[in-house]
Amino acid sequence: MSVYDEIAEAREVSLASIDAAEDLGALTALESGLFGKKSALGGLKRLMGQVDASERAGVGQALNGAQGAVREAHEAAKAVFAAVERRAQLEDERLDLTEAPSEPSRGHLHLVTQTTERLEDVFVGMGFTVSEGPQAETDWYNFEALNLPQAHPARSMFDTLYLDLGERSDIGDGEGGEATNVLLRTHTSPVQIRVMQNQEPPIYTVCPGRVFRRDTADASHMPVFHQIEGLVVDHGISFADLAGTLNEFTSAYFGGAITSRLRPSYFPFTEPSAEFDITCVICEGDGCQTCQRTGWIELGGCGMVHPNVLANCGIDSEEWTGFAFGFGIDRLALMRHGIDDLRDMYTNDVRFLNQF
Ligand code: PHE
Repeated sequence: MSVYDEIAEAREVSLASIDAAEDLGALTALESGLFGKKSALGGLKRLMGQVDASERAGVGQALNGAQGAVREAHEAAKAVFAAVERRAQLEDERLDLTEAPSEPSRGHLHLVTQTTERLEDVFVGMGFTVSEGPQAETDWYNFEALNLPQAHPARSMFDTLYLDLGERSDIGDGEGGEATNVLLRTHTSPVQIRVMQNQEPPIYTVCPGRVFRRDTADASHMPVFHQIEGLVVDHGISFADLAGTLNEFTSAYFGGAITSRLRPSYFPFTEPSAEFDITCVICEGDGCQTCQRTGWIELGGCGMVHPNVLANCGIDSEEWTGFAFGFGIDRLALMRHGIDDLRDMYTNDVRFLNQF
């Protein structure tokens, strides 16, 4: 066998072993067997000394040619396997964002929204409509029209957040009359005024919404909270209608075991005024820690609409009378669900929210 045949055979053996390799690892493992001193071609290179001087150039060329071909085939095979592995890795690491999570979670309405909707349902069931008003109000709607003139001491009942818009004469009483400050409404009572301005009695409406006070957050206060206001104006409405309506509402919302009572109080926009309590929902009237052993929990304020308020809205108090009430929605939800800290409602920890 001539040295050329040996070279050709060593080249074929080398190429065959490259063909047989199944992955990048196998190709790498082949390297010393293909190119090292003990490889088939490397061994032939060591025999060069024995080749006749006149033939060395030709044999050397043949050896180099064979080695070049093997190297090229090895590089090409490596490139193919590297591409395959890279693709597999990308496939592995790909995140399919269109894939549905194993347990789909669609979320639900916040407890305050649920409570508001339930309250609306109860009042709609009693024949009331639902009215809404703006959260940024004017001094006139939030105070003046409600019988709280500029220097009235009862304004201090409402810690107010004023908006830095200066005095606006275009939006005061809706008729461009009074210059007025703009503030975040401290209660839902200004919506009463808007309803009475826009609608002839008889009026039976509730006004739910967000209200704002300059309060520091604690277990029972938030600077942003929610109220629902009720307003009735009709012929011959009396305090008995107010008491009856609140009682009807209380048992419709909480169930028959819970009733309501009224205690004398003061609000500038109602006369007479009352605080309205409901049976403690925790002990059902027996007396416990939550109700300070009285069996009652304070829910909100109410009273007969003050004649000045009716007059401010152009309603004749000789012909019409009415009552109004207002209470906190957040606090109601707290009581209904036995939550002891109002702040939990707004921390938005899903472990809390998921319970409702
Ligand atoms: N607006 C009063 C408040 O926020 C509640 C209230 C409403 C009282 C209607 C009487 C009549 O405290």
